[in-house]
Amino acid sequence: MTTDLSAVAAKHLLLNMTSNGSLGPDGEGLFVVRSGEGPYVRDDDGTRYIDGLSGLYCCQLGYSYADEIAEAAGKQLRELSFSPLWSASAHPAAIELAQRLAGLAPAGIEHTFFSSGGAEAVETAWKIARRYHALRGEPGRAKVLARRGAYHGLTVGALSFTDDPGLTEPYGPPAIDTRFVANTNRHGLFPEMANDAVFTAHLLGEIEDTVLAEGPDTIAMLIAEPVQNRGGCITPPEGYWQGLRTLADRYGFLLVADEVITGFGRLGEWFGGIRYGAESDLITVAKGITAGYAPMGATLVGQRVAEVINQPGAVLNHGYTFGGHPLSAAISLRTLEIMERDQVLQNVRDLEGGLANGMAALAGLPIVADVRGAGFFYAVQLAGDQPGGGFSDAARQALVVDLIPRRLREAGLLARVYNRAAPLLQIAPPLISDRPLLDRITEIIADTLDEASRALAR
Ligand SMILES: Cc1ncc(COP(=O)(O)O)c(C=O)c1O
Repeated sequence: MTTDLSAVAAKHLLLNMTSNGSLGPDGEGLFVVRSGEGPYVRDDDGTRYIDGLSGLYCCQLGYSYADEIAEAAGKQLRELSFSPLWSASAHPAAIELAQRLAGLAPAGIEHTFFSSGGAEAVETAWKIARRYHALRGEPGRAKVLARRGAYHGLTVGALSFTDDPGLTEPYGPPAIDTRFVANTNRHGLFPEMANDAVFTAHLLGEIEDTVLAEGPDTIAMLIAEPVQNRGGCITPPEGYWQGLRTLADRYGFLLVADEVITGFGRLGEWFGGIRYGAESDLITVAKGITAGYAPMGATLVGQRVAEVINQPGAVLNHGYTFGGHPLSAAISLRTLEIMERDQVLQNVRDLEGGLANGMAALAGLPIVADVRGAGFFYAVQLAGDQPGGGFSDAARQALVVDLIPRRLREAGLLARVYNRAAPLLQIAPPLISDRPLLDRITEIIADTLDEASRALAR
């Protein structure tokens, strides 16, 4: 079965972020996911895996809520299958969801603009920031500050906020003028950066210097994730988000928290920024907003911004036909209801300490350079065979490309292994995972990295 589908896919399907030409009967096999149950998925041969990545950071509830979600979806489809949020027309599901999100969001965030996914939500934030500044008489605020190594989506606008030449260069100069500042990864920095106050001051100082060098009246917004996904679950030092707020207020730019991954319970809060005291003007979400049961993105807008863009006569010239689709909105409402009823956030809060301990225990292994993360979101940065922790080509191929992903898969765990300059292993398990499952995940990772450490030493 797998080979048949693999051949058909090679002939007809173009996958995202994939060397499509390498797939097929004579090339690399395709991993076909056929079904899901609880925190597990099964491939086309019926082999079961722990979904240690929640799809792609989407499936907060795992896969066993189909009946309830289908009931909500069926009810919505029978009542109204589609209607846009366009030209002063709306439908109840989106209105109700916007109200619900305002109730969950940090204080002062009351409006939502819907889209179909994360990159659209990010571009919406950018357009709203531009409208906000223009309406306040500052049309020259057109630049964005983003953080090195971060990822905010692959559409042409959102791609501007990423500094990875592998992603950007094939498509020419960025659509949006962006300046990059440091992310909050302190691994490998001077020892004094272990002190939160010193590190925070250093990071904020660089941002302030950048703003002053560019000219404060040219900066529209700064975008950052509460915990940066790319680069491996990079948590902020204490005081960082408060400092971002101070700088945003001092220099008049908007602060955008990209919560496409950290939203909806991943860090044990509805919005991960809450955990770090973030007070953002705009929040972008997607993925977990429907727990992966339907596509949806959203940009949440703070009152201060909403009051400007909603002033009488101002038109928000922006939209997506399927933004806030009734089906997605109904599914999101039911997802949020289930998450609340089944105390999914509390589950993350109750179990994250155990997961943190299990992950921290990996730090003694020779192949482990650093362990970091929060909630149900952790990464291990790998150390190689070279002085300073780099990987020789041979060790990279043998361990990062081959042994580690293969062993994880053989042991029944889907996790992410990034073959980057600093290779990483990452997990983001479903938020309904129980303690034995989390223990099993860390056990598989420990066994795998133990074997890889021994191979490294040879
Ligand atoms: C932080 C962040 N922002 C934006 C996006 C883009 O979301 P989408 O793939 O739904 O466009 C992603 C996707 O992984 C993301 O991780």
